[in-house]
Amino acid sequence: MTVDLPIAVQLQELAVDIAREAGALARERRAAGVALAATKTTLADIVTEADREVEALIRSRLDAERPGDGFLGEESEAAQSSTGITWVVDPIDGTVNYAYGIPSYNVSIAAVQGEVDEALAAAVYAPALDELFTAARGGGAWLGDQRLAVTAENPAGALLATGFGYDPATHDGDLATVRRVMPLARDLRRMGAAALDLAYVAAGRLDGYFERGLAPWDFAAGGLLVREAGGVVSRVDTASDRPMIIAAGPALHERLSEVLHKEI
Ligand code: IPD
Ligand code: CA
Repeated sequence: MTVDLPIAVQLQELAVDIAREAGALARERRAAGVALAATKTTLADIVTEADREVEALIRSRLDAERPGDGFLGEESEAAQSSTGITWVVDPIDGTVNYAYGIPSYNVSIAAVQGEVDEALAAAVYAPALDELFTAARGGGAWLGDQRLAVTAENPAGALLATGFGYDPATHDGDLATVRRVMPLARDLRRMGAAALDLAYVAAGRLDGYFERGLAPWDFAAGGLLVREAGGVVSRVDTASDRPMIIAAGPALHERLSEVLHKEI
């Protein structure tokens, strides 16, 4: 007798499968040399041929396996869902790292029902590091077969990460935010890939993460990882259409929120 797996686990298995395949393609293309395809919102906001090719691969695999599901990806047109499930995809998160040959880039895939903050399943795969972070709602967050948990508060202060958007006009505001947050920090990292920042909070490699100006594909999968690892992820609306995301263990999240909500 076959037993139906819960839908979140089925979606997680598919996300993992596709993320591994997509990651292998990104790694292969990186080894062959990166071709810049275009700049997007600003000169610093780049897309490579590989971003597009990897998204096309993910999309065609999803179309074949789950016709009718919606699609929201960074590099192609969105498609409405007729099943209630939408896939939120960043084919290469950390494109600037990818272009420079820094291994902190990843394929980020989430299956979402309703709001983007309500992912059912997630896979964040960093092919150059061969690290796969996964979660299914209610089933915990995992790095391979190791269950993940966010950190507890530490009297030495928090190891935090953040990011700066591609628009130079926002940098002054971001730096002012960093100044406000530093009293809570033991140190600050800027690694260049939002989904990995979130995965690292889930894994306890970082205590907390905040960034203004994120798009859904930057945080849909990583957000589920943090929640399933016992953390809190909140979205703070900003003057632009892209929110600030704050992610940390519950106590630190509260302290970060007190500082960051005043900044918006
Ligand atoms: C970017 C990275 C970066 C973050 C930017 C994102 P991309 O995604 O996640 O760390 O600071 O806000 O747009 O462009 O490399 O997919
Ligand atoms: Ca991207």
